[in-house]
Amino acid sequence: MNTSTENPLRAGLDDERLAPASAIVIFGASGDLTRRKLVPALYHLQLARMLAPGSAIVGFARKESSHDEFRKEQREATAQFSRSKPVDAEAWASFEPSLSYVHGTFDEPAAYARLREHLESVDATFGTRGNRLFYFATPPEFFSVIAKQLKAAGLIAEASDRGRFTRVIVEKPFGTNLESSRALDRALHEVIDESQIYRIDHYLGKEAVQNVLAFRFGNAIFEPLWRREYIDHVQITVAEEIGIEGRGKFYEGAGATRDIIQNHLFQLLMLVAMEPPSAFDADAVRDEKVKVLRALRPMHRDRIAELTARGQYGRGTLGGGLLPAYREEKDVHPDSRTETYAAMRVEIENWRWQGVPFYVRTGKRLTRRVSEIAVRFRGIPVALFGRSQAETAPNELVLRIQPDEGITLRFAAKQPGSHMLLRDVNMDFRYGATWGRTSADAYERLILDALLGDATLFARDDEVDEAWRYVSPIIDAWNEMPAPSFPNYAAGTWGPASAEALVERDGRRWRRP
Ligand code: BG6
Repeated sequence: MNTSTENPLRAGLDDERLAPASAIVIFGASGDLTRRKLVPALYHLQLARMLAPGSAIVGFARKESSHDEFRKEQREATAQFSRSKPVDAEAWASFEPSLSYVHGTFDEPAAYARLREHLESVDATFGTRGNRLFYFATPPEFFSVIAKQLKAAGLIAEASDRGRFTRVIVEKPFGTNLESSRALDRALHEVIDESQIYRIDHYLGKEAVQNVLAFRFGNAIFEPLWRREYIDHVQITVAEEIGIEGRGKFYEGAGATRDIIQNHLFQLLMLVAMEPPSAFDADAVRDEKVKVLRALRPMHRDRIAELTARGQYGRGTLGGGLLPAYREEKDVHPDSRTETYAAMRVEIENWRWQGVPFYVRTGKRLTRRVSEIAVRFRGIPVALFGRSQAETAPNELVLRIQPDEGITLRFAAKQPGSHMLLRDVNMDFRYGATWGRTSADAYERLILDALLGDATLFARDDEVDEAWRYVSPIIDAWNEMPAPSFPNYAAGTWGPASAEALVERDGRRWRRP
């Protein structure tokens, strides 16, 4: 019997995919990501019996703390952030002993000597057999320092070592521009092989994002239409209702383009535009994905103002509450030029997509949280049914990533009655209604994949490189343009007027999801 259909916690997890016993070392263990995402995800993997017995989780951070204090903190965090509440006391009792803690600063050789000693004792007591998954959940300036120290402490096994594995999960941001991302690659490659590096983009861990591949390459009827002859344009939206959530220091140096477009949004772009891979494995899938980015037509400097729009939110209202302007947020400069909204008209120059614009947009403090890919098909060649047909729109397929995961196909249908009146109707697939359960968190899937050595859902060095190669010149050009008149959209709205103008110039409109 397949227990995954019985246990809702096993949603999206496959019984065959049991991770091997490994020490999972989290650098930045006192940080927000560890509390909110990583430990709850590991707890769920344990609850779903996807972690091998004998797996051990080692927190590493600057703070002095005992194993017990670390366990207590993580229990409280899991109670607060876990997707299934309350925490199952029995499951936690069996999970808790696998948590331990080592303190130290990231550049202190003695701390790595302590870590090494601790991992040796973990190997002896847990049976982790030298397998190590290092999770870099620290600010990015520490990534290369940690990698070097690990190497110096003899904690990195060769990729060719068949007896044990060393893998590294690297959080975003992976660099802040092309140069810094390449420098980081060089630093990592000095101590570890590309095949051991797992650059995480949590969008790829989302069920509905993986379903883009299933939808495109698991069905025969859509793929013939998936091209310039039938598609008018594509809109990709990652809209957020939240603001910067106290991350002013980070966000001031990032902005919407670095924070979302370069990574999450371009991942969606690659999946929707790629050619069918020859196999569903890490190399074949990523080979096809990166070709999409290589085919992006670079934006000529003179056209950047016309092909992009950026915005920053001012005060506004949402859900009845008054919201501050971005410039009034903590750790934000009162004259900040950082964009909290960005939109672009992207072109892919290849046989499939030549002439089909991809409009992409993302923003903070928009009307609602929604991520989706909308594929707008071409209109009908002749209107047979007279005036009523003018009220129908061309067919549209919407792949809804969140929050209401699913797929909708809009088409025209005859309204019942004695006249030939047409109206738009929807054919709808909803995850909740179909599968009757909520999806696993993206981090569960991705940590499991890294433990299994499956890098299909992680970004490869060349993908990250190409994405920066496209967006860096845009960000540079923006910085050289006269200061934009920010704020230019009110919190709680759909973004700046310039973003509307961007699509209206082509005679199109943004969807209002
Ligand atoms: C993160 C960004 O990578 O993704 C955040 O740094 C953003 O600014 C978040 O809020 C969005 O993720 P999700 O899964 O909520 O769409």
